[in-house]
Amino acid sequence: MLENLEKIKVRFQEELNAVNSTEELEKIRVSFLGKKGLVTDELKNLRNLDAEAKKTAGMQVNLLKEEIEEVIVTYQKQLEEKEYQKQIESTERFDFSIPSSVEVGTLHPITIVQKQIEDIFKTMGFIIEDGLEIQTEYNNFEAVNIPKNHPARDMQDTYYLENGQLLKTHTSAAQNTIMRKYGAPKPGEPLKVLFPGRCFRNENIDASHENTFFQLEGMMIGDDISISNLIYFMKVLLTEVFQRDVKVRLRPGFFPFVEPGFELDINCLICGGDGCPTCKQSGWLELLPCGMIHPNVLRMGGIDPDKYTGFAFGLGLTRLAMMKYNIKDIRLFNSGNLKQLKQFTK
Ligand code: PHE
Repeated sequence: MLENLEKIKVRFQEELNAVNSTEELEKIRVSFLGKKGLVTDELKNLRNLDAEAKKTAGMQVNLLKEEIEEVIVTYQKQLEEKEYQKQIESTERFDFSIPSSVEVGTLHPITIVQKQIEDIFKTMGFIIEDGLEIQTEYNNFEAVNIPKNHPARDMQDTYYLENGQLLKTHTSAAQNTIMRKYGAPKPGEPLKVLFPGRCFRNENIDASHENTFFQLEGMMIGDDISISNLIYFMKVLLTEVFQRDVKVRLRPGFFPFVEPGFELDINCLICGGDGCPTCKQSGWLELLPCGMIHPNVLRMGGIDPDKYTGFAFGLGLTRLAMMKYNIKDIRLFNSGNLKQLKQFTK
């Protein structure tokens, strides 16, 4: 029996040395001290011994039992501590004591220019409106006098959606909705609206073309609006934005929704007119197409073209921002390159 106890002790020690977790330790506890455990077996065997032998052997077995119990308790504590540490190490922790360095964001250069123009026009009594980005074919084309199969539809490569709607190709898509919203202006109180927005065209992207760009459209409708009003507002706009005299040229331009239509070009501020990739070597940039609103467009908007006239302009906001900030590549705007974008502050 004593020999047996010695063997059990050695075996326990060996098994204990191989233990790595509290679960393994529990298994050992069961196999030595459990109901069918090795030590428990020895306790059961005591009854086969005579009284004298039972006394000494009994003492020995109980001693071993206590020893094993004690070792297991100590080991259990050590393993629990180890497992806890491991868990902590594998958890990502947030150190609240580290001082924070919060970086404040900046406005996108296009937003800056947009807000600036909005402010100029607000002081001249214009309302700011928002146009939808997903539009019906009717609003984007028909309502601005571009019927189906009209060649002008090819001028704007359109992204159509599965439901037959489209991503608006120009801010003019909001003209009809705005005319219907405000209705015919009262005498002497012309309707003056500014509606900036993001536009989409299926373009090959290069230094001066993007498939996602911003325009800013303006419209003034009243009983006495003429080309001279149009020219006046365009002049104010450009002088305020560039804060200096900018060379411009006006030439006839064709847009189905204006008659007459003009292209207001500005002298390329990047190359000074010598020719560069941004102005396609021409020295001029098409910046401000405009004209007198076509009678058909007024009529479709519920405004009587015999009583009212109006002008509209569709400023290339993205292009204007390029000019203002001397940005040579249009791709920068949608690049998400914050290091570059945040240098423009006003
Ligand atoms: N919608 C035209 C375009 O995107 C621009 C424009 C607007 C022209 C208003 C004239 C008047 O090309």
